[in-house]
Amino acid sequence: VNAHKIACIPGDGIGIEVIEASIKVLEVMQPLFGFKFEYTDLPWSSAYYKKNGRYMPPDALEILKAHDAIFFGAVGAPDIPDHISLWELLLPIRQGLQLGSNVRPSKIFKGVKPPLANCEVGDLNWLILRENCEGEYCGQGGRSHTGTPYALGTELAVFTRFGIERHMRFAFELARQRPRKMLTLVTKSNAMRHGMVLWDEVFYDVAKDFPDVKWDKMLVDAVTIRMVQKPKSLDVILCTNLHGDILSDLAAALSGSIGIAPSANVDPERKAPGLFEPVHGAAFDIMGKGIANPIATFWSAAEMLRWLGEEKAADGLMSAIEHVLEHGPLTGDLGGKANTEQVTQAIISALKQ
Ligand code: NAD
Ligand code: IPM
Ligand code: MN
Repeated sequence: VNAHKIACIPGDGIGIEVIEASIKVLEVMQPLFGFKFEYTDLPWSSAYYKKNGRYMPPDALEILKAHDAIFFGAVGAPDIPDHISLWELLLPIRQGLQLGSNVRPSKIFKGVKPPLANCEVGDLNWLILRENCEGEYCGQGGRSHTGTPYALGTELAVFTRFGIERHMRFAFELARQRPRKMLTLVTKSNAMRHGMVLWDEVFYDVAKDFPDVKWDKMLVDAVTIRMVQKPKSLDVILCTNLHGDILSDLAAALSGSIGIAPSANVDPERKAPGLFEPVHGAAFDIMGKGIANPIATFWSAAEMLRWLGEEKAADGLMSAIEHVLEHGPLTGDLGGKANTEQVTQAIISALKQ
């Protein structure tokens, strides 16, 4: 039996609820598919911060590096500024482990009613490849004249050939493995004349090495129109950190709900454990009610299994997800009445069939 070391960080809000649901599913799966998860439970969260004055211990990255994968819920609390919680936990992990690519698939499943009238099952099947360490997320910038009418703040977007190229090569490799082998580069290289123009330059260089991938390029504003009006025309969407953050929430909504959208934060060279988490956050409006949709986290777990080489288990979990989305029960975000536990039990029954 293959054993995998998993660092488990449920975090805050519904993150705790959907990770708990996923652990139940994964417990049932281990004997069925012949793999073993050895968990390290890491309580790093807003509660931990209130007690210890920090979200993670100083050797957090070293602890994480001793694992094969990281399974993450969400971070954020109503009484802590979001820029503090995110810069204490999730962003230092993504950047500290150099998880340079964030892979965010979305598609319309049978049984899910998408919001667009022109869109049916099969019409939307995208892979958003979001750069994950650079751009506006690099933490560079500053403030001055605070508290005066002249207050100013800067947020520097930093892009490096190293970070761009690493991410783009990975995107092309993933595009190459998809049936349609199509890739769309998304930038804003009309108004942004430095970093975004560097993106274009690196892209032309990298594209030469992947002649079998059909590509085009678009500005980020225009691609939102295309996502809504011609969803079928897109396959892999290659974009920056901030653009990918926004486009992936749009993609999630267009495919039915943010409650099913997964993500994989990975170092394409596999020098660090991947971090797998739902796209959504702590969801203050529904936390503690037991009604969060756990499917985004189940799908993230399936991506984690695939990354760990457990293909059969990943496929098995995806089939169970497809079955439950088609036949129910569904949570409120998908128009159903079920709670987290009922969806979890339905997934477990589907796995056992
Ligand atoms: P959010 O994703 O938490 O919620 C947006 C909306 O989607 C809410 O109405 C919520 O109820 C709904 N929703 C999200 N997940 C759902 C699910 N699984 N099932 C059903 N409905 C779901 O985004 P937000 O409200 O902007 O952020 C809340 C907090 O979470 C903030 O502190 C933010 O910084 C943080 N956040 C964290 C992460 C993360 O940890 N990766 C991601 C996004 C936001
Ligand atoms: C996401 C989240 C994070 C991001 C936030 C919480 C920092 O929105 O994973 O999409 O912007 O990357
Ligand atoms: Mn986001």
